[in-house]
Amino acid sequence: MIKIAPSILSADFANLGKEVQRIDAAGCDMVHIDVMDGHFVPNITFGPPVIKSIRSFTEKTFDVHLMIESPERYIKEFVEAGADIITVHAEATTHLHRILQYIKSFGIKAGVSLNPGTPLSVLDYILDDIDMVLIMTVNPGFGGQSFIPAMYEKIKALSTMKDMHNKTFDIQVDGGIGLDNLKRVVDAGANVIVAGSAIFNAEDLEVQIENFKSINL
Ligand code: DX5
Ligand code: ZN
Repeated sequence: MIKIAPSILSADFANLGKEVQRIDAAGCDMVHIDVMDGHFVPNITFGPPVIKSIRSFTEKTFDVHLMIESPERYIKEFVEAGADIITVHAEATTHLHRILQYIKSFGIKAGVSLNPGTPLSVLDYILDDIDMVLIMTVNPGFGGQSFIPAMYEKIKALSTMKDMHNKTFDIQVDGGIGLDNLKRVVDAGANVIVAGSAIFNAEDLEVQIENFKSINL
């Protein structure tokens, strides 16, 4: 089953609680939460207090994507804010193995995200330690960018790597995903789909989430 994770980066920030309730009621599987620090990426979004403030609006999985430098400094705060999965960028931390263990020590799931230019080989020795790999299909920082076509091969290569090692981690894709390329990323091996602008800028959000979910039919 393919899971749909709308990114609230494209939601109405003045009504974040209501927006989260809306995607929940429409049948999303996770809430994808993009944290940016203006340093690892050029954009700034929000941090633990905002996440905490929307936690009571849904029981769905809070999938927290940290686009921040040295994320180890803030893991505890994001756990306390209500994260169920924390994904860190391999490029943003020196001790990747250590931070994955640290995240999991709180009893939540740990993911690793790779920028488009980062090779899969950074995962070679941590395959036992990851619950999810996030393949960035745009350069992180902003919603509404175009999918980078070279990422199809990267998703396929990760999927092969996963099968070869008999692993069960999720393969998440994030950036530029819409109904036009949904099937192709799923065929390549992705099973968790992040979509921001394609969902929140749609004419009818509820219908659009149904459209995304129909990949499972
Ligand atoms: C980009 C973020 C994404 C973003 C995707 O840096 O990680 O989650 O919200 O937005 P779309 O789906 O509009 O490309
Ligand atoms: Zn994201």
